[in-house]
Amino acid sequence: MVNGLLPPGGARAVARCDLLGRDPFTDEAGLLFRPWLGPGYHATIEALSAWMREAGMTVRRDAAATLIGRYEGTTPDAPALLIGSHVDSVRDAGNYDGMLGVVIGIELVERLNAQGKRFPFAIEVVGFGDEEGSRFPETMISTRALAGVLDDSNLHELRDRDGILLSTALLTAGLTVPGLNRARRDPATVLAWIEAHIEQGPVLEAEGQALGVVTAIAAQRRYEVKLHGRAGHSGTMAMPLRHDALAAAAEMILAVENATADGPDGLVGTVGALRVWPGVVNVVPGDVVFSIDVRAGTDDIRNRAADRITDAIREISARRGVTAEIILRQELPAVHCDPALDRLLGQAVREVTGTAERRLVSGAGHDAMIMAHLTPVSMLFIRCREGISHNPEESVMDTDVELAIAALERFVTLYEETP
Ligand code: GLV
Ligand code: MN
Ligand code: MN
Repeated sequence: MVNGLLPPGGARAVARCDLLGRDPFTDEAGLLFRPWLGPGYHATIEALSAWMREAGMTVRRDAAATLIGRYEGTTPDAPALLIGSHVDSVRDAGNYDGMLGVVIGIELVERLNAQGKRFPFAIEVVGFGDEEGSRFPETMISTRALAGVLDDSNLHELRDRDGILLSTALLTAGLTVPGLNRARRDPATVLAWIEAHIEQGPVLEAEGQALGVVTAIAAQRRYEVKLHGRAGHSGTMAMPLRHDALAAAAEMILAVENATADGPDGLVGTVGALRVWPGVVNVVPGDVVFSIDVRAGTDDIRNRAADRITDAIREISARRGVTAEIILRQELPAVHCDPALDRLLGQAVREVTGTAERRLVSGAGHDAMIMAHLTPVSMLFIRCREGISHNPEESVMDTDVELAIAALERFVTLYEETP
């Protein structure tokens, strides 16, 4: 298989992520875009499955299309330590967000298998399909299904930008919306969730640290806002008579920025997606749909900012005679990682790097936020260049990834030894 010439380890993990950043593992030529259940996603699952088998795992996909490779413990049916992240990407992504955590899990198992090491627990390497929410308006569907917190009541109506229903997309994997919750995992079969991920921020690099241990993940909220004004002729519709949905959206976007500017405790607000209808030069825009993403270190700070934003949207829409439908698409409370797991991971990081572990809070969202409903979670961060992420310029060093694999290997042993 590809990269066959590279020995197992950090350099191969990075090379594998790079390989998966190109055709046929992306849905758009010349850039990486791997939305859930698209052709690039399916090709990626095939490649990862082959690497998992080579590493000594049995491979399956659950009822929400999540890829799971299992490395058995000393007894069959032992509960499992789950290690992984996500395989989907944002549009025009870097190669490592999510994917590196899955590929590192495979390297870890290959290393354990080569030494004939088995534990009283199994290790499962997990690749979730829908962490980014880059295809459907809801996100973490596959993670929520496995963690047993998926409300599937409104999933039937979900469509992607091309109008394709989630149910149609699931059929490409032989799956259905009513079947998604069959992915629910019995908590007794799971010991913990361990996620390795690029930091996506600048702290580790600035402090000269290869690895970090995450203590908490910021609260998130996502909205979809649908504005309905009145389309009209751009040459004849007098300015005072207009109900321009795009002009209203422009004011609302600035309200998002104002409500979060200089906010405390990691408060940030982003409008990242916007669609204009009919979107032509000589028509006053009649309809606009845009996204809002608000995050902060505490639920309370996030909630207060979100309230200010939704109040502003209502005021602007009333004043401009444009109707606004505000749909809450995601609500994730701040999540704390498990202190005992963080201690073990910290010890492993100290032993492999020779320096005290840097502990930090993640502003980015992760599958760990959902997995915390099912099991204790812990996250290992890997330094990335200039903190750049969600950008094709994402970059990690082979040597840092090698340290991450070594830290996880040490962690597994420490975990076994801990009563
Ligand atoms: C995922 O990367 C997110 O933080 O939105
Ligand atoms: Mn991401
Ligand atoms: Mn990610």
